[in-house]
Amino acid sequence: KKEQLIVGIETSCDETAVAIVKNGKEIVANVVASQIESHKRFGGVVPEIASRHHVEQVTLVLEEAFRQGKVGIDEIDAIAVTEGPGLVGALLIGVNAAKALAFAHNIPLVNVHHIAGHIYANRLIEEMNFPLLSLVVSGGHTELVFMKEHGHFEVIGETRDDAAGEAYDKVARVLGLPYPGGPHIDRLAHEGTADLDLPRAWLETGSYDFSFSGLKSAVINTVHNAEQRGEKIAPETLAASFQASVVDVLVTKAVQAAKEYKVKQVLLAGGVAANKGLRAALTTAFESLEDIQLVIPPLSLCTDNAAMIAAAGSILFDKGKRADLTLNGNPGLEI
Ligand code: KG4
Ligand code: ZN
Repeated sequence: KKEQLIVGIETSCDETAVAIVKNGKEIVANVVASQIESHKRFGGVVPEIASRHHVEQVTLVLEEAFRQGKVGIDEIDAIAVTEGPGLVGALLIGVNAAKALAFAHNIPLVNVHHIAGHIYANRLIEEMNFPLLSLVVSGGHTELVFMKEHGHFEVIGETRDDAAGEAYDKVARVLGLPYPGGPHIDRLAHEGTADLDLPRAWLETGSYDFSFSGLKSAVINTVHNAEQRGEKIAPETLAASFQASVVDVLVTKAVQAAKEYKVKQVLLAGGVAANKGLRAALTTAFESLEDIQLVIPPLSLCTDNAAMIAAAGSILFDKGKRADLTLNGNPGLEI
């Protein structure tokens, strides 16, 4: 059978990314142009700035991916693009670039859900083994997704308020750390000890949902109360205590769900998967569960990239999924 080459395009937030993936598993080219520097001084992603950057970058990033991969457009089997969720103006740039390429070269177009992409980042390092569970933790999402086969996604739990990464970024802001705050809190957490007793939102018994807004408020209140007493809590202690609470809930629920759904694999996905505390705690928790394989992608595949979109697109393409030229960005797309 001939090799399959898929182009992935991802512009849902603040990275303009294009990748080329062979047979759904092998990265041929992977280019990510990050806009973090442009958004930093605003303390978060500014949608209008993001769209403008995507417009400026997308053609350059596409050309760079083809140069890196030493691949010609005539060798491409399909173009996979993030349809949503994300910032609507940002999504539109990627979707329109993909449609233009597909139309001009008469190549099939496949629409991909951003979270499916995050999950399929794992297939770039390990073959998937069903049934499996994915813990998706990013700036916009915190979800436990059960998969009984390729292309089937069942959300068994999700956040009722803030996403894990969002909570990291908001707490970082309170501590005066730059955007995005996750990596800074992670670093500080390793320099301190989790001495503060912060809340853990377990929610109803048996629920796999999450909630991080109470924890975020508890951190803010702790900081303010200390200030009023004329005291200052060491940022390392705050970071370590906050991280302990987040990681405890994520790991406990992932382990419970993995057992209940009798999965063979647990895949970590999303930007917060870069968190050292989370990676270590998950590794420890699953060491004793010998029938369950834990897969954790390298950092570069955890944060937004297009290789993951091409990897998910490859499976969907094989299953016959196609989009036509009426495809639009869908900011609230359900998985
Ligand atoms: O998946 P991603 O790149 O974008 C979204 O789809 O949201 O995730 C970005 C999020 C940000 O909130 C960032 O603070 C968080 O991932 N993040 C981390 C770490 N690295 C990135 N959070 C905690 N610890 C980290 N080491
Ligand atoms: Zn993402």
